[in-house]
Amino acid sequence: MANVLCIGAGYVGGPTMAVIAKYCPEHQITIVDINPERIAQWNSDDLPIYEPGLLDVVQEVRGRNLFFSTDIDKKIREADIIFVAINTPTKTYGEGAGRGTDLQYWEQTARAILANTQKKNVIVVEKSTLPVRASAAMDRILHSEQTNTQFEVISNPEFLAEGTAIKDLNDPDRVLIGGSDTESGKKACQTVADLYAHWVPREKILLTNVWSSELSKLFANAMLAQRISSINSITALCEKTGADITEVSHAIGMDQRIGSQFLQASIGFGGSCFRKDILHLAYLCEHYGFPEVAEYWDSVVRMNEYQTSRFFKTILTSQFNSLAGKKNAIFGFAFKPDTGDTRDTPALLLCQKLLGEHAAISITDPKALKNAKIDLADMEGDITFEPDPYKAAEGAHSLVLVTHWEEYRQLDYQRIFESMAKPAFVYDGRNHLDHQKLFEIGFNVFPLGKLPLSHLE
Ligand code: UDX
Ligand code: UDX
Repeated sequence: MANVLCIGAGYVGGPTMAVIAKYCPEHQITIVDINPERIAQWNSDDLPIYEPGLLDVVQEVRGRNLFFSTDIDKKIREADIIFVAINTPTKTYGEGAGRGTDLQYWEQTARAILANTQKKNVIVVEKSTLPVRASAAMDRILHSEQTNTQFEVISNPEFLAEGTAIKDLNDPDRVLIGGSDTESGKKACQTVADLYAHWVPREKILLTNVWSSELSKLFANAMLAQRISSINSITALCEKTGADITEVSHAIGMDQRIGSQFLQASIGFGGSCFRKDILHLAYLCEHYGFPEVAEYWDSVVRMNEYQTSRFFKTILTSQFNSLAGKKNAIFGFAFKPDTGDTRDTPALLLCQKLLGEHAAISITDPKALKNAKIDLADMEGDITFEPDPYKAAEGAHSLVLVTHWEEYRQLDYQRIFESMAKPAFVYDGRNHLDHQKLFEIGFNVFPLGKLPLSHLE
């Protein structure tokens, strides 16, 4: 039996540890966090994050072999294996501002581990996405003082996506574990591999060197984001030529060398990882003297911002270049469906641009209104938050779909149309709705990467 600790009770730490606890009943798993409110929420049935299936798993294991605590120092003293899943935001100050990763919390955590640990052998597992060679810094700090502990730092990045976290954790494509080539390094990797082997087939558990593991995580996110920017870059051309992006995606995705996933055109990708990780990858390339490589990856982020701006311009120009005083209903603020998370959501840039035109915005979202209010707290303008999508659309000139929540497909669009100002517009930033049907109801429909369906020309 091992005492497993996770520092950081966020989107990554919470679900990952709950699933490990479920499959490893003989181990005691504890999650700690500096934020007492978060821990209190994890100890209630009002969890701090929304994730389908998460509450069931937490209820099954909480109090059995999963515990949440704020007593970080004490729990470090008891731990044999310490996962570190704290957030690693983009640096906002000094050298590398806006690009590099802010490692101050990471370093503080390393120092807290060093100051408190008491076991003879302790494995420290990097769960957070980190710059390549971050584990070397962790290792140096942990060995900066003489202690009785033998530390082994390994990398075990998490590939779960929000909204499908429990499914991804239950059935991962692979589990990646990177460690040093020494005897104790190999043993530490094996110990962590044995945890996952409770439910993941051994052939899906990859053992690599530590740098490969760190870089694979950064690069996986960069590749996924690049696919989205690539498909989004072509939507502009589709709208001018009459090619249909859905047909194009389908046609190229049937080529097994390309594959069909992550080819869904959108208003832009969001989430806490893609932008941050690409910027960091580019920063690393620059640091090591490869400006051309940095420029290549930076362009993926630029294309993403361009896509959101282009979508906004369609809204502006199609409504006769004047949005001042007109209400626009924003359907969805989360960066993707099935989550309340709004970090780096394209909805924010879009709303800022609409408010810049003095448009009124009424935001609706099944799970993200709380975060939307925080994100827009400093913005001036006519902003309302409305849980009921029908009310959000009442009197609006346009309905702008940002997040493809399944329930938005089921709404009564005839009723919505009747309650809106005319001419009524729909802008579908995810190609999620039935455009022909909306057009027949009377809407002027602006999809992405397809010709508009308009009654006005
Ligand atoms: C993720 C991933 O872990 C990381 O790989 C990615 O790079 C960014 O975000 P996530 O779980 O989504 O982290 O972050 P978040 O939900 O913000 O959770 C991090 C938690 O760590 C917070 O609850 C925060 O309070 C806690 N924390 C942070 C600590 O307990 N100690 C610290 O020093 C800093
Ligand atoms: C991502 C990675 O998928 C995951 O492996 C990693 O651990 C964390 O970052 P996440 O950000 O939670 O996960 O969600 P993801 O499903 O990857 O979507 C990211 C963004 O891309 C969302 O805004 C989504 O709507 C958008 N997206 C995704 C598209 O615009 N088109 C697509 O085809 C797929």
